[in-house]
Amino acid sequence: NNVTVVEHPLVQHKLTLMRDKSRSTKGFRQLLHEIGMLLCYEVTRDLPLQQVEIETPLGAMMAPQIGGKKLVFAPILRAGLGFMDGMLELVPSARVAHIGLYRDPQTLTAVEYYFKAPEDVADRLVIVTDPMLATANSAIAAVERLKERGVTNVRFVCLLAAPEGIANFHGHHPEVPIWTAAIDSHLNEHGYIVPGLGDAGDRMFG
Ligand code: PRP
Repeated sequence: NNVTVVEHPLVQHKLTLMRDKSRSTKGFRQLLHEIGMLLCYEVTRDLPLQQVEIETPLGAMMAPQIGGKKLVFAPILRAGLGFMDGMLELVPSARVAHIGLYRDPQTLTAVEYYFKAPEDVADRLVIVTDPMLATANSAIAAVERLKERGVTNVRFVCLLAAPEGIANFHGHHPEVPIWTAAIDSHLNEHGYIVPGLGDAGDRMFG
């Protein structure tokens, strides 16, 4: 169904530490950094390789390298930034598109306040990041905005997803695969994921 739950023990262990309400801002941010690397490893697992000719000190060989244009990471501000350091550590040459969206607390609709993407974003694989897929209004708006710019190759990475959010997201963007560390029970009346981990942006930035 186009959703991959990353069940790696390191991811699950770190997620549990993050859910704990006594985790400090510093600890939360550090864990998001670490999980960002692990999720990046998973979301890039099937990138196509091409054979290129190189010279080792002992002679010529054909060796695999990732083909095509560099990736674009597209964090949804603010909380999506939490994955960026870790992901850029693994893919240092990636480009970054910033998508500023906040969720109106009353209507839960996503309101755009910033959008800046590389000029040639349409030619690249774009990996959208946001720790929380709650109603999915933010993720849907982010992908719509990228599609307006001509992007056709998109993946979405989050830490926690609500079943309602996954259904809504794939109702709008059925072809966009999701990677998440867990699918939680449901959304509460304020649009928060239950049991979740609270407000990721607030826990990371205050
Ligand atoms: C939160 C969260 C996601 C979004 C998820 O952002 O970080 O971006 O809501 O909810 P949705 O799936 O229902 O759209 P918020 O608006 O609190 O902004 P912040 O990241 O700047 O704190």
